[in-house]
Amino acid sequence: MAVPLYQSSAVRQGLGCSLRPGGEWLTRRILELSRPEANHVLLDAGCGPGGSLGLLRAHGLQNVLGVDLDREFVAEAQIQHWPVLQADLCRLPLADQSIDMVICECVWNLTPRERTLAELGRVVRSGGVLAITDKYARKSDGPDNTWPVPCCFAGASDLATVRSLINVAGFTITTLEDHSRLLRETAARFVFEHGSLHGFWLAVTGSAELADQACRASQATKPGFFLLIATRNTS
Ligand SMILES: C[S@@+](CC[C@H](N)C(=O)[O-])C[C@H]1O[C@@H](n2cnc3c(N)ncnc32)[C@H](O)[C@@H]1O
Repeated sequence: MAVPLYQSSAVRQGLGCSLRPGGEWLTRRILELSRPEANHVLLDAGCGPGGSLGLLRAHGLQNVLGVDLDREFVAEAQIQHWPVLQADLCRLPLADQSIDMVICECVWNLTPRERTLAELGRVVRSGGVLAITDKYARKSDGPDNTWPVPCCFAGASDLATVRSLINVAGFTITTLEDHSRLLRETAARFVFEHGSLHGFWLAVTGSAELADQACRASQATKPGFFLLIATRNTS
């Protein structure tokens, strides 16, 4: 099976421990908009190698927990002594309403999104906050929209669908910002490193045919990048 995009050395070398467009800047934007209190319990859902955990601690938030499915990322984050569990976002080993705020950066599209929202809705307290950053698709029809590797582009939908899924899951959206510029900046960095986006996808997949497929899927779906903040409705 193909290596997921975010585990490829092309992405790790380009992005380090913050495996998403915008890196720490966008996490700071989430904190600026949502203003968690120092004693709040935060969950970094799909924390990867732990890039945001250190930032959240440095921001004065001491009750921060990371969860990720990937054993190697969990081990990498634990080297920094961050509290991190290996778990699926669809089955969190956490009590009902035990979390004040969830940060979910470039993970949601990789998961069965409705099940993940249901589980996050279970663990977040009433009035608690959910912050999601991820890709969206400006177009999704057409024959060439299949991505060659598991990636957050592949699970993307249009923003109207994003809004609807969040609302149906029992959250009220308070902020929805378009940060597609950060996606373009990340793409430009990969072009600089690999000569072209095709060169980047070739480095990820090791196959000219799969790199062609990724470029066609990008053309067909015209991906953008959003930041969404929502509060859990009172049940
Ligand atoms: C693009 S990386 C983002 C990592 C981190 N949030 C960041 O911004 O650096 C996606 C992460 O989602 C994790 N992931 C994918 N599906 C998951 C699931 N069902 N449950 C938990 N983590 C998952 C992957 O293991 C990976 O670490």
